[in-house]
Amino acid sequence: MPELDDRIAVVTGSGSGIGRGIALVLAQRGADIVVADIDADAAEAVAGEVRSLGKNAVSIPADVTDRESTAALASVAIKEMGHIDILVNNAGVGGAPGWWQRDSPTPEDWEATYDVNVIGIVNATSSFEGHLTERRSGRIINIASGAGRRGAGGFAHYSASKAAAINVSQGFALQLAPFDINVNCICPGLLWTPLWEKIAERDRIKSGETVLTGRQVFDERLERSTPLGREQTPEDVGRLTAFLASDRSKNITGQSINLNGGSYMN
Ligand SMILES: NC(=O)c1ccc[n+]([C@@H]2O[C@H](COP(=O)([O-])OP(=O)(O)OC[C@H]3O[C@@H](n4cnc5c(N)ncnc54)[C@H](O)[C@@H]3O)[C@@H](O)[C@H]2O)c1
Repeated sequence: MPELDDRIAVVTGSGSGIGRGIALVLAQRGADIVVADIDADAAEAVAGEVRSLGKNAVSIPADVTDRESTAALASVAIKEMGHIDILVNNAGVGGAPGWWQRDSPTPEDWEATYDVNVIGIVNATSSFEGHLTERRSGRIINIASGAGRRGAGGFAHYSASKAAAINVSQGFALQLAPFDINVNCICPGLLWTPLWEKIAERDRIKSGETVLTGRQVFDERLERSTPLGREQTPEDVGRLTAFLASDRSKNITGQSINLNGGSYMN
């Protein structure tokens, strides 16, 4: 029997990239999925992909920066699915719209990264907390970043928000442990997703690069920084999420796990 049979997972930001990969891997492992994203069309497209794997899925438009929106997400998700076992806080941004075209982060970029990457976790977790504590069971997996492990020149707003995401995960792990709810964090390294396409574009603009494509900028960074020499994939993150959502990890909580091909070790 697949290890997540009968489990129901909510994945924020699952209309694209890593979140989509997590949703599909959890579904392959037996879970039904609530696809939550600020982009309603993208969310519905991924919900369709989950259904084509033979699992139940609903898409719910939600903005994690808005507590009323995450509260509505929780109430609709519980109503539609009956209950929730797993919450994956994956939604994240690199700054305010157009951040990749700026030389250095603006106050709006700082605000946007904190709003989505930190307060977004707090909003969604707080909105599902009552339901999970009442059931005295649950798994919460937060997607931080290798960027949260050390400072990043010119990208401090993002890396600081991800460091906060790691710390917030520890706080919730302590708070929710008495209710048998495990909270862990994944720190991915380099994944070629729409987010990294923007980072590559920013790096190209900053360095005046006209020859390399965005993908080549990414490959160069990968070669420079990753001992295993392989890019990480949304499926990699999905597999680790599935482990952290399964009974195999029931004594793991408050941890942040690097998934980065060895680019940072701790
Ligand atoms: N791509 C990488 O190399 C990498 C590395 C480490 C960590 N991460 C983290 O992984 C997560 C996913 O990143 P990705 O690369 O898939 O990015 P992405 O841009 O492809 O996907 C992010 C998704 O989040 C959604 N989203 C944005 N703001 C939202 C909001 N306010 N409410 C709800 N949904 C919202 C977007 O619509 C999008 O579907 C992020 O937290 C990111 O910081 C990415």
